[in-house]
Amino acid sequence: MGAIPVLDQLGDVRGKRVLVRTDFNVPMDDGRITDDFRIRAALATINWLTERGASVVCASHLGRPKGRPEPKFSMEPVRRRLAELAPGVDLMENLRFHPGEEGNDPAFVANLIDGVDAYVDDAFGAAHRAHASIVGPPKTLPSAMGLLLQKEVEVLLGLREQPKRPFVAVLGGAKVSDKLGAVEALLGLVDSLVIGGAMCFTFFAAQGKPIGESLWEPDQVATCKRLLDAGKTIHLPEDITGLDARGQYATFGTRLPEGAKGFDIGPGSAAAFTDIIMESRTVFWNGPMGMFEDDRFANGTRTVAQAMADTKAFTVVGGGESAAALAQFGLEDQVDHVSTGGGASLELLELGDLPGLAALRGAPNA
Ligand code: 3PG
Repeated sequence: MGAIPVLDQLGDVRGKRVLVRTDFNVPMDDGRITDDFRIRAALATINWLTERGASVVCASHLGRPKGRPEPKFSMEPVRRRLAELAPGVDLMENLRFHPGEEGNDPAFVANLIDGVDAYVDDAFGAAHRAHASIVGPPKTLPSAMGLLLQKEVEVLLGLREQPKRPFVAVLGGAKVSDKLGAVEALLGLVDSLVIGGAMCFTFFAAQGKPIGESLWEPDQVATCKRLLDAGKTIHLPEDITGLDARGQYATFGTRLPEGAKGFDIGPGSAAAFTDIIMESRTVFWNGPMGMFEDDRFANGTRTVAQAMADTKAFTVVGGGESAAALAQFGLEDQVDHVSTGGGASLELLELGDLPGLAALRGAPNA
């Protein structure tokens, strides 16, 4: 694989108009940004360019509008926040208001780069999407990865290529189906895998255990069974907290009674997972251990977040939800790297490359 061009390889940017693809897909609540982490994460690159005399125009998607304008996905709140953090920097309207973005339409790319002299991709969170604004501009424009993208690639490929061992991946979240490819790939990279969050119930089901009314994905049971039989170390929770059939808070073993619903790993599992994290030298964490937005079910996620902060291991957190959990517990500064990408970080670990990176390698200045 060829090298990906870095900012210095754009040459003199003074007086040039530079299109920066950012991932400003930030969480919103009723038109308000609830976490501006992704905006702040792009500032290093934006400042690098403006300090050298470039005029910067940023472009991003927000949410998943279906190829037409939808007011609730307007970039306006992001534009206002960006104006506070980086005055004088332009921001285009939501790229996904146009079907050409996800359809990777060359005419849409041509419009996007009209009047633009160079392209910078700093949208790590979207680098796994072969969309127009990500793979189109580097076909013709001098291009480079921004500082955020560069750091993400360094850290995540470092995990793939030379992790300090033992290397453990802690996976959570609700959907096994979203993460199956990554689970399989991670099994080949790590010394052990820890599984919490609602996805553990599909694994329990694969072990033939009753899971009550807990969330699960019946069509993934066979795959989970295959993963469990792969001869690798997979740690599943040893207890679960949730609600019993009468709706009362309760702690269960790993066989849930009829009508019960699991919402978090139990205290025994949280302690066991902490030990594993403390004894590792590299830890990658993606996905909460339970429904941490509800304080009754936040203990598992809080305990794992605290172990991530306390361990001497090299710690990487990927994914919006785990990053939000870290922030909720005030621990975001106590891990080595918080990735801005969820799907992108898993896919880079899984495949070692992403469409956005491949596109930059093909740029005319590469
Ligand atoms: C993300 O939030 O993971 C990225 O911005 C990608 O968004 P998408 O999954 O809607 O493509």
